[in-house]
Amino acid sequence: MKAAQIQEVTVVGTGLMGHSIAQAFAQEGFQVNVTDTSESALAVVKDKIRSNLVTFVEEESISQNEAEEILARIHVFTDLGQAIREADFVTEAIFEDLEAKQSIFEEMDKYCSLDTILASNTSSFRMTDISSRMQNPERAIITHWFNPPHLVPLVEVVLGRNTSEETYWTTNDLLLRIKKVPVRVRQEIPGFLINRIQTAIHREMYSLLEIGAASAKDLDLAVKASLGFRLASIGPLLVRDLAGLDVLCRVEDWLVKEIDSSTEVNKILKDMVARGELGVKTGKGFFQFTPESVEAIIKERDRQFVHRLKHLYR
Ligand SMILES: NC(=O)c1ccc[n+]([C@@H]2O[C@H](COP(=O)([O-])OP(=O)(O)OC[C@H]3O[C@@H](n4cnc5c(N)ncnc54)[C@H](O)[C@@H]3O)[C@@H](O)[C@H]2O)c1
Repeated sequence: MKAAQIQEVTVVGTGLMGHSIAQAFAQEGFQVNVTDTSESALAVVKDKIRSNLVTFVEEESISQNEAEEILARIHVFTDLGQAIREADFVTEAIFEDLEAKQSIFEEMDKYCSLDTILASNTSSFRMTDISSRMQNPERAIITHWFNPPHLVPLVEVVLGRNTSEETYWTTNDLLLRIKKVPVRVRQEIPGFLINRIQTAIHREMYSLLEIGAASAKDLDLAVKASLGFRLASIGPLLVRDLAGLDVLCRVEDWLVKEIDSSTEVNKILKDMVARGELGVKTGKGFFQFTPESVEAIIKERDRQFVHRLKHLYR
């Protein structure tokens, strides 16, 4: 099947990622079925999407009428079979549990017509393993979205050993159709691309906190006002080319020995988790939170993301 022929999409699992992936498709005109084993998750899925859409309306990215049309394209099912029966593309965003993912892919493989593509939003498993019980593993592929999926453009696309090139190209073109930025990961490596890069940044930031080089607030500010500002518009390797590789090679020659190269999680993070400082969940992490402050932070984050999307990606 070609991406242009895809009309109906199903999202299995409507938690943090799933409801927002459903929105990303519905916003670009697709009929989207959603299903979940939790009735309470299904009861709130449309409310969560409605609330996300408010920011788009406030930022004049869409009209109130368009928001209603987007919501009307989302169809809620309690039964997996009914939700996926007519779908051309199904994406799973259930708990990160290999056994659960293997069994849902086995089940979907039986229910869906042969040209339906079956995607997973797994963060850590290989599609070769998830698809191990499928009769037709050539149609199985990883599409790894970033939170919040209806706003962050990148989707990492990872093939399993048996995934066909046709499945890859249709998935890639479908993601382009919904104005996402798909990037192919050429090997089934742990963490794909971005979680590896992100972990390297965080390892160094924890280490800088540990030696007292700056406060948490100032470290976040410094990254936002330099890397963050720059990287929204220009990739880090192009930044290197613009600076001159000979100079950077000399700098890295001494600096690489100075930065953290530990292969264990930093004690700062382990101690915070042991103290129950889990971030917004418990009201304290690197910063302090109240339910109202969390709501305001997410609202402002999404407002800026919608604004950036309009200017950088549309
Ligand atoms: N949270 C993130 O930032 C993030 C980022 C990228 C990828 N992921 C991946 O996305 C997936 C979902 O993560 P999340 O954070 O949305 O989790 P979540 O806990 O918010 O949502 C999971 C949902 O799946 C439902 N579910 C569980 N088993 C099911 C089944 N068999 N059939 C149908 N529904 C089922 C649950 O009821 C729940 O609503 C995971 O694989 C995770 O690794 C998460």
